Parts: sequence; structure tokens; C-alpha cells
Amino acid sequence: MTNETRRPLLIVEDDPALQKQMRWAFDKYETVVAADRESAIVQLRRHEPAVVTMDLGLPPHPDDPTEGLRLLDEIHALAPDTKVIVLTGQNDPANALKAIGLGAHDFCTKPFEPEILTWTIDRAFRVHELQEENRRLQSAQQAPAMSGIITRDPEMQRICRTIEKVAPTSATVLILGDSGTGKELFARALHDLSPRQGRRFVAINCAAIPETLLESELFGYEKGAYTGAAKQTIGKIETAHGGTLFLDEIGDLPVSLQSKLLRFLQERVIERVGGRQEIPVDVRIVCATHQSLKDQIVSGKFREDLYYRLAEIVVEVPPLRARKGDAALLAHGFARRFAAEQRRGAMTLLPDAIAAIEAHQWPGNIRELENVIKRAVIMAESSSINAADIGIAPGDPEPSALNLRQVRDDAERSAVLRVLGRVNGNLSKAADLLGVSRPTLYDLMHRFGLK
Ligand SMILES: Nc1ncnc2c1ncn2[C@@H]1O[C@H](COP(=O)(O)OP(=O)(O)OP(=O)(O)O)[C@@H](O)[C@H]1O
Ligand SMILES: [Mg+2]
Repeated sequence: MTNETRRPLLIVEDDPALQKQMRWAFDKYETVVAADRESAIVQLRRHEPAVVTMDLGLPPHPDDPTEGLRLLDEIHALAPDTKVIVLTGQNDPANALKAIGLGAHDFCTKPFEPEILTWTIDRAFRVHELQEENRRLQSAQQAPAMSGIITRDPEMQRICRTIEKVAPTSATVLILGDSGTGKELFARALHDLSPRQGRRFVAINCAAIPETLLESELFGYEKGAYTGAAKQTIGKIETAHGGTLFLDEIGDLPVSLQSKLLRFLQERVIERVGGRQEIPVDVRIVCATHQSLKDQIVSGKFREDLYYRLAEIVVEVPPLRARKGDAALLAHGFARRFAAEQRRGAMTLLPDAIAAIEAHQWPGNIRELENVIKRAVIMAESSSINAADIGIAPGDPEPSALNLRQVRDDAERSAVLRVLGRVNGNLSKAADLLGVSRPTLYDLMHRFGLK
């Protein structure tokens, strides 16, 4: 228990002598006293005590429990987590029971034994503390877990859960997906959720660096290793020591370097170019590629043994067109972000703009959508963005499905997703647009696994 700041304890008691005795007995807490129901509520609002002790018999009816039970009700309505300890007369088990039934945390009989009541109060504080801690841990696990990732697509949410699960381990993760689907975003999320988050996240794009330079980029080199190697230089792998190394476009890693990377993964030591010393390095490897590594294995461009080293966990990020409702949802999110960045005030996407966004196939995925919205925010003449500002041609209609039940399910799901994407989180508006009640909408969302 911390002594620096005493925690408030609200004592509701109308007898001045008892008030004084209790103040004295519980002085390790910041005692706050109230003599009736109304002032008890005032004090509750002011001090937000975790624990309240309460005499059931309060004025104007000191001889019956009505006022006390009413106060109990009011406390729970205002601050449901408050632990209320009820003090009852010795011959009053019925009312004690009634109070417990109404949600009181515990009861003590009067005249009370200070030791027993102290113990009861301490325990109530402890229970409150544990509940709070529990809630804090839960929200820390859920809400910010996938910060920056906007989606309502069930498959994407499944991927988020996978990332959360593997983040604390040191498993090597391979992220597959088309260009612009958010592979790097997931790689960073993996790092941020891992115990390595305080150390570096080092990214290297294997496709962007010429083969001749890539080896020294990855492994570093010693002074004089080759012409122009004027001083010893640390490579990306070593730089990432203690943290995460993100090998982007791993499918473009030249075969000669594939065997060197494989050796590193097996031995967890590197040798700088031109060096003889083996340097142990501790990094978590995350790779990404838009290519099919399986095809590349078949055509001899990628080592199968390396693939299995890298693919301890494989995550396949779906293209944007496969995520129902996400395009509009992302568009709203990006419009908000860019409008704020450009200091343009709130910008709205008009229905014809949303329709164009929904119809488009997005070959460049989220990156393409991000660029389109950014340009539209800059170009729009007013605070609303219309289809012309978006400037994309309507795409091909989606291919249709097989049996009737599935058609119905698919249609319902995509209608729900589309509307949810449009209303920007406003569920009553979504229910109105779909012509269903809110509970029905909740049922549908539950059935389709939407949050
Ligand atoms: N679900 C999402 N929510 C919000 N922003 C996203 C989401 N997915 C991707 N982005 C944004 O889209 C852009 C592209 O994402 P990212 O760079 O992670 O994709 P990538 O798959 O690595 O693409 P490439 O294959 O082109 O390298 C980034 O600016 C990223 O922040
Ligand atoms: Mg990328």
C-alpha cells in the first residue's frame, strides 16, 4: 500500500461520536465523512472513493434501511465499481442480506470491532485495486494492439490476432501480400508488440540495392575489405542487434546471399566482409514479399531450405478488393488524417465519391487509396470530396457466387460491411440505412464476426 497519497474512504454515518471513532480508527485512509444520503453523493462525486462504509439507518429514517438502500443504489448507478460495506444492527441479518443482494460488497454488524472492520475495508480496497489492474491489462491488450491498422475485415482481424500472438516470441515471420497491402505496417506492429520494442527496427529493401552492395549492407565490412572501404562499417544485421530486422522484398535476395543469410539463421553469427571474426547477433527476423516464393523455389530462384527457415509463421495479407467495406472505411480515415495534416478543416466524402471508391479494384491497394485521397483532399474546391475529385474510373463489377443461401449470406454481409464503411462508425445511422433495428444490426455484425 502506498503511503504518500492516502486513498479516500467515504464514511456515511449520522452519529457524530461514531464518526469521530471511525475517523480515528481508519486514519491510514483519507477519511471523508457524510451524515446523510445527499451529502454522501456529493462526497462520492468529489472524492471518487474506491470504498464506502455506510450505516443503513440514515436520516430522515434512522430506524429503517430505506434511505441506506437507496444510497446503495445511487452509488452503484454513479460509480458501479465502488465497494460498499454496510453496517447493520446486530439483530438485523435480513437487511444485511438485502444489501448484499443489492450489490453491497460486504457487511459488518454494529457495534463493530475496529480490527475486523479494518480488515474488511483493506480487503475491499484490494479487490478494487485488482479489478482495476485487470481492466487496465485487458485494455492494454486490446485497444492499442494494432495501432494504425484500419480494418473491419474478419480475415484482417484474424491476422491482427496472429500478429499479437506471435509478437512476444522470437519466431521468424514471413508476410506475403500484394504491393501496398500493409506488409510493412504489420512488420512494425510485430516489433512494437514484442519485448524488443525498445530496441531498433531496421528495414532493408532487398530489391532496391544492387547485388554487389547488398552483402556489405547486410553484413558490414572491415576497413580495406575492398577498394573504397575506408573505414570499418556495421551492417544492417548488426545494427538491429537486440531488435528486429525487416527484410523487405526477400524474394529479390540474390541466390549467393541466400546461402549467407541461411548460415546466419542457423548459426546466429555474422562475419563482416573482409573480416575473420564471428560476431554473435541477436535479431528477430521478419520478411515480406509480393512474389510467390513457392514459384521461385520451383524455378530455382529461391532456396527451399531458406524458405522453411523464414516461414516459421506465414501471414498472407489479403488485397484491398477482398476486404469488404474496408475501402470506404480507410477512405474516411485517410480523409480525416490528410485534412488535419493540410489544415483544411473537416472534409467529407460525398456518396458518389464513396461509390467510386467501392467500385474500384485497387490494384495498388492501400497505398493507391492513400494517394488518391491525399490528392483529392488537396484538390477539392470545397470541404466535400466528390467522385470527380477522386478521379478514378469505375472498375469491373465483382464476379458472383454459387448457391442461394450463400448468395443471400454474401449479399447481407457485403451490404452490412458497405454500410458500416459508409457511416463512419455511426451504428444507428447504419441500422437506419439498412432498414433494421439496432439489435438486428448487432446480431448481423455478430453473425459475420464484425466488431
Ligand atoms: N489497414 C491499414 N490501415 C491504415 N493504413 C494502412 C493500412 N494498410 C496499409 N496502410 C498504409 O498504406 C501504406 C502502404 O502500406 P505498407 O507500406 O505497409 O505496404 P506494403 O505491403 O509494405 O507495400 P509494398 O509492397 O509496396 O512495399 C502505408 O502508408 C501504410 O501506413
Ligand atoms: Mg513495403
